[in-house]
Amino acid sequence: MQEKAANPPNRLPSDKLLLEHDVNLKPYNSFGLPAMAARLVRIHEAADVRRVVDHPLLGRAPKFVLGGGSNIVLTKDIDAVVLKLEIPGLRLLEEREDAWIIEAGAGVGWAHLVQWSIEQGYPGLENLALIPGTVGAAPVQNIGAYGLELQDRLESVDVVDLMTGRAACLPASVCNFGYRDSVFKQSGFGGLAGKSVITHVRMRCPKPWKPVLGYLELERKMEETGIHNPSARQIFDWVTAIRRAKLPDPALIGNAGSFFKNPVVTPEQCRDIIGRDPGIVHYPMPDGTLKLAAGWMIDACGWKGKAVGGAAVYERQALVLVNRNGQARGAEVVTLARAIQESVYGRFGIRLETEPVLL
Ligand code: EPU
Repeated sequence: MQEKAANPPNRLPSDKLLLEHDVNLKPYNSFGLPAMAARLVRIHEAADVRRVVDHPLLGRAPKFVLGGGSNIVLTKDIDAVVLKLEIPGLRLLEEREDAWIIEAGAGVGWAHLVQWSIEQGYPGLENLALIPGTVGAAPVQNIGAYGLELQDRLESVDVVDLMTGRAACLPASVCNFGYRDSVFKQSGFGGLAGKSVITHVRMRCPKPWKPVLGYLELERKMEETGIHNPSARQIFDWVTAIRRAKLPDPALIGNAGSFFKNPVVTPEQCRDIIGRDPGIVHYPMPDGTLKLAAGWMIDACGWKGKAVGGAAVYERQALVLVNRNGQARGAEVVTLARAIQESVYGRFGIRLETEPVLL
């Protein structure tokens, strides 16, 4: 069974690439930071990547892959050729005994994919509702929320190699997923950072559907509403409401979601910190380590609402930095982030790692 593409394709003539010069990237990053791209090519189909690789001028130039720009902090102009991924297409690829397989072009909005899947009756992605960014960027940092990570549902991704122009399909098993991490973010041996472009993503919605409800805030919703057997649609609505209540909508106020990863520590380190700060929020991980709530630590250091120029710590979630007046510069965001890192280190002895990539 095949669905019609939800996003009508808007193809370039097959023999031509649309090359733009001196493009301000401010509308193309969710933080709304200004930076110029000397050259930008819109990628509308996988073959466009090959065309760039084969292009006499662009082929050998360094490339920078831009999805929804929701996980980057632009601090300077970009000399590399920006490949802006706008590949459309959203369909049910296959209905199997054990799962529905959904395929989406890298340029489709992730939140749109989740909403569409729920509306079409393919449950399984509801916990990942409303996450900003594109489908193609989702595997790069293994997006996750409310007890589910992309790796739990990913079937495979299509990539095109930026050196050779060769296309390949990578099963989830070779993506080397970790917490907000994957082979696409890793450099060095075997890593694919900067080496390939994700063009299509296939998601698996397993049958029979089972809700993922372990997360505290979802349990709270069950108590509040008395609904103890929620449907996928209900969970989708709850997650949407929870996110809207505490995370800023990038369409209204620039941000890149959580700015820092939640640090993972050993039981000894955790005991040490609890000794000094008994209230610290922490979660046991399956391997015996503990994840600490970075938002709690930043909040405890008094950062909520503090600002450097236009860059500020969000009032309702200290883990999120925002472009308060729409005029923030990348350097201000970085200065604020560094100050937060120093103060958290000073109080807890923990070095926070940034979640978005600082450029
Ligand atoms: N907290 C505070 N003060 C704050 C922020 C948080 O005390 O200012 C406490 C909360 O009360 C809670 C704990 O810290 O007890 C954790 O906060 P929350 O549930 O909001 O989740 P998080 O750990 O801050 C992570 C992800 C989010 C994801 C949520 C829900 C990371 C870096 N962030 O945030 O992902 O939506 O859990 O699963 O793992 C993102 O990656 O961009 C993102 C938004």
